[in-house]
Amino acid sequence: MLKLTIVIGSTRPTRAADRVAPWVVERARSHGAFDVEVLDLREWALPMFQEHIGTIGDFADPTYSSPVVRRWNRKLKGTDALLVITPEYLHSIPGVLKNALDNVFVSFALRNKPLASVGYSIGIAAGARAVEHLMDIAIESELVPLRNTVLIPKVESAFDEGGGPLDPMTDIAMTVMLDDLAWWAALLARGRAEGELPPASFRIRAAAASLHKAS
Ligand SMILES: Cc1cc2nc3c(=O)[nH]c(=O)nc-3n(C[C@H](O)[C@H](O)[C@H](O)COP(=O)(O)O)c2cc1C
Repeated sequence: MLKLTIVIGSTRPTRAADRVAPWVVERARSHGAFDVEVLDLREWALPMFQEHIGTIGDFADPTYSSPVVRRWNRKLKGTDALLVITPEYLHSIPGVLKNALDNVFVSFALRNKPLASVGYSIGIAAGARAVEHLMDIAIESELVPLRNTVLIPKVESAFDEGGGPLDPMTDIAMTVMLDDLAWWAALLARGRAEGELPPASFRIRAAAASLHKAS
């Protein structure tokens, strides 16, 4: 079964994420394609990003500046797909979530894995700008962001007493996104197993070094 990691991207007390996440997790678990693990950033006391070459040690198994960063990288390296739940903060994702993604450093843990996004906000923007920004960040992390997303406007009143979304289109969007995620996760898992190209930065450095040698 494909391993899916769900990251909860807001950590503040009273967060609206607690309305969104239980439904997302339940839908992902009942989809059938995934073995789901939830990483709540509240439970991951990641330091503000501070890695550099001196904190890495063995590149094949970096030490990092603290054990929690090492655990975080290992955890993400073991997944086949990522689903990020993010509110919109200042037209972007929360700093705590960006910091968690920055902390995926030199392990290439997210490389060639699909990213599904659930955005929400208190107003009508529905987290759309956060999700768009997350996609930019995802590309640099070498994730493969999915076209289909779930966007939840007016999050305070978006769910019924049973925890399901009041707008049936939200549920439909989730089905479409999870189906896409399963397809991409299986495809990319096969691709990774068959062999990946070295990261572009390595290939660029190697090509530049051979240019140097030739001149
Ligand atoms: C620092 C901050 C910035 C925000 N910026 C936006 C914004 O740019 N657009 C928006 O629609 N809502 C914005 N909001 C409102 C959030 O969408 C709303 O508070 C939501 O509940 C946040 O999710 P959370 O409670 O799970 O942290 C902002 C909220 C905070 C705390």
